[in-house]
Amino acid sequence: MLPVLKRSCVACHQPGGGGYEASGLDLRTYDGLMKGMKFGPVVIPGKAHFSNLVVLLEGRASPKIRMPYHGTPLRKCYIRLIRHWINEGAANN
Ligand code: HEC
Repeated sequence: MLPVLKRSCVACHQPGGGGYEASGLDLRTYDGLMKGMKFGPVVIPGKAHFSNLVVLLEGRASPKIRMPYHGTPLRKCYIRLIRHWINEGAANN
């Protein structure tokens, strides 16, 4: 599991947290990340550009739901890292 997601997302994306309650996305574990939201997956292995995770991190869905919610956007180098990881197949490493 990518440490940057643990650091920036888990506070809200675990049971009891606002992000989890709203979307069903539990970011404590790799399995939670791959399970995605109650509306569908957030990671499409091999397709970073179309993965909701990246769409939201880049604020492409709507600036209002850019993640971290109402927080400081992730630095570009982390987003690049996440894009690369997804495009390489999003393995559990
Ligand atoms: C301060 C709390 C908070 C943090 C930190 C946070 N989220 Fe969220 N997240 C939310 C809330 C609240 C929603 C529901 C937003 C909505 O739909 O209006 C949400 C929704 C989402 C969704 C579903 C979006 C949708 O279409 O409804 C994803 C995916 C997501 N967050 C990913 C992340 C990631 C990745 C991070 C870390 C970079 C992160 N979140 C950090 C609170 C948070």
